[in-house]
Amino acid sequence: MFLITFEGIDGSGKSTQVRRLDAYLQDEGYDTLVVREPGGTELSERVRSLLLDPDLKVEPFTELLLFSAARAQVSAERIRPALADGRIVLCDRFYDSTTAYQGAGRGVAEPDWLQAFHRRVTGDLVPDRTYLVEVDPKTAQARRDDAARDDDRMEAAGDDFYRRVRDAYAELAEEHSGRFVRLDGTRSIDALHDTVRDDVQFLLDEGGGTPNSGTGSSS
Ligand code: ADP
Ligand code: TYD
Repeated sequence: MFLITFEGIDGSGKSTQVRRLDAYLQDEGYDTLVVREPGGTELSERVRSLLLDPDLKVEPFTELLLFSAARAQVSAERIRPALADGRIVLCDRFYDSTTAYQGAGRGVAEPDWLQAFHRRVTGDLVPDRTYLVEVDPKTAQARRDDAARDDDRMEAAGDDFYRRVRDAYAELAEEHSGRFVRLDGTRSIDALHDTVRDDVQFLLDEGGGTPNSGTGSSS
């Protein structure tokens, strides 16, 4: 029914907001599916472990193809069927991550080329709403440190890389202002959730979304 994606640099607070929104929607009686990218299917989770392994050397174009391969699988196997069943799908990252990280961060491909490529990869999925949680790279790093998270292969890329990713996200939000909502990620978890919840509720009311009788979500 609705495809809602969350984007931002690592440690910005996306996953926290996905969990909060999922809990809210379930309380309201909506049937949800939560997926994280890369991941969400057996194949995609195996590709994830290749992509994040700090001991593997991965060429930038290979990286683009692997993230996209994981996405092609989760789109076909889980996201499109869930949408067809009338569920609300919440994605912790989707193809805007590839445009920002591989396109701008690694400099692998132009945005226009990527845009067409993403359509092929996902079978023409376009998010109904994309929340961009914006924090500066230093704040994100501090949050990752506080959470005692070891850097994975992507997170070892450094500050310049993250600045390019952050700027690319801001450009995407300008270009696709109809579906993007930019959030000041330095606000509290509760304040951010309230903004997201109100906006999603508005989207559902506007689109005539009614809660399903089904329960539960999975990731
Ligand atoms: P991401 O999914 O973007 O990597 P997480 O949701 O895992 O980020 O959050 C990273 C860390 O920052 C966690 O320890 C989380 O509790 C904390 N955090 C999340 N949102 C906020 C916020 N708005 N303010 C302060 N800390 C936050
Ligand atoms: P993950 O731990 O899920 O991210 P986060 O810390 O934001 O919760 O790790 C996914 C990593 O992969 C993250 O560094 C972003 C990166 N990534 C890409 O580079 N391209 C993509 O298309 C996707 C989906 C993720």
